[in-house]
Amino acid sequence: DISQTKILQIPGASEKLNSCLKEIYNDFAVSDEKIDQIIKRFHVEMQDGLERDNGLLPMLPSYVTVRPTGKEKGTYLSLDLGGTNLRVCLVTLNGDSTFSIVQQKYTITNEAKADNLFDWIANCVDLFIIENKLVPDAGTTMIPCGFTFSFPIVQSAINRGTLVMWNKGFSVPNVVGRDVAVMTQNAFMRKHLNVKIVAIVNDTIGTLMASGYANPDSQMGIIFGTGTNACYWEKREKILKWNPTEDIAPFDEMILNMEWGAFDVASTTLPYTPHDNKLNRKSINHGLQVFEKMISGLYLGEVIRNALLWLVDRRVLFNGRSSDILNDSYKLDTAYVSSIVADETPNLDDVKLILEVTLSIPDTTLQDRQIVQEVCKIIGLRANRLSAAALCAVLLWRPELLDKEMTIGIDGSMYEFFPGFDKGLIKEMTRILGEERAKNVKLVLAKDGSGVGAAIVAMIASKDLE
Ligand code: GLC
Repeated sequence: DISQTKILQIPGASEKLNSCLKEIYNDFAVSDEKIDQIIKRFHVEMQDGLERDNGLLPMLPSYVTVRPTGKEKGTYLSLDLGGTNLRVCLVTLNGDSTFSIVQQKYTITNEAKADNLFDWIANCVDLFIIENKLVPDAGTTMIPCGFTFSFPIVQSAINRGTLVMWNKGFSVPNVVGRDVAVMTQNAFMRKHLNVKIVAIVNDTIGTLMASGYANPDSQMGIIFGTGTNACYWEKREKILKWNPTEDIAPFDEMILNMEWGAFDVASTTLPYTPHDNKLNRKSINHGLQVFEKMISGLYLGEVIRNALLWLVDRRVLFNGRSSDILNDSYKLDTAYVSSIVADETPNLDDVKLILEVTLSIPDTTLQDRQIVQEVCKIIGLRANRLSAAALCAVLLWRPELLDKEMTIGIDGSMYEFFPGFDKGLIKEMTRILGEERAKNVKLVLAKDGSGVGAAIVAMIASKDLE
């Protein structure tokens, strides 16, 4: 559990090993002062993003202005394109804060990530429709669908969104600058699917809406998964850049998609280590999403791999030998890191299995395994503390919300599976906000919420269209 991480004394460690570990520890430590600085800088970047387009933080208007009440009723189709999977969902909202869902997960192929994404999505939807025998409601010709699209889009309406950039390993050409709702709709038409995209939302917004359906006091939605990001309800008058090109009904508040993975794009504030810089330099979105690269599941294993190789090069780990697999980028999946951190067996048997079988490193010693586990904990803890800083920055942006109970809906593999990630957030939140205020904040896992949330937004949007 990383929330309990303390500097470990590795039994029998040489002076050289101790000094290398100390260097790693110092590099990845985030002091309380650093956290304060990050929170202040968050507020500067949020303000900038509220004042102008292309601000330091994107702070993208979602066109979602109606809070769910839990009384919503009806059956809707939704698509959830995450970093790893596409989920096609048929969601039935029961009108009493509960829902049922029929869903199918499709792992996004590398080809789809780099080339034929929209036709691939249309194929998956086609399969789902056939399997579930879906037809449009009586008197209508199309099945309405909410689309959760987990990349930054600039919207001009609830069902319009132009892609700002790809990230999380996606690189489909000729999409940046174009409307992804239209591109998906066109792919549906090519396949003669009776599905109409009535709303497009970010996954954080889907998560917040799903959380709001169950807990109407939900104020914020967060993803700690393959990528990381958050959204929250902002007051109309604070969104100074608001200048819609199309008509939209008057509103008091709107959900903003912060795109906080883009925090510190000027690299002035975060505690970058050489291991982060190495990852950043080699990534396909070099220089972008630098905050995301310190926190989220796609990258955490890779930062740790870099640090482990650094120890190998200093001949204090694995007797100075690596393996072809460990030498290969992104081969240390964050799911393995979770298992490594979770291992409490005296001989670290699970760590041994991962190192020797998955990564093909022969004959590890107990000391090797202890070192690996320690490095995973240290770097995991940094991700956790930085996450808490971002979360608290948003709460402190609207401190009045902390005076009463409120809910934050959270989804993603890091939050769900990384040992101690949730406890660590609460611990750090309590330190930063004080016990009284932190007690009012309920963190709730909105598992696969974005599918449900997109259905709720689809419902609200179809009403608007009536
Ligand atoms: C990336 C995307 C963002 C998404 C997040 C989590 O940061 O830019 O839109 O919400 O990943 O999936």
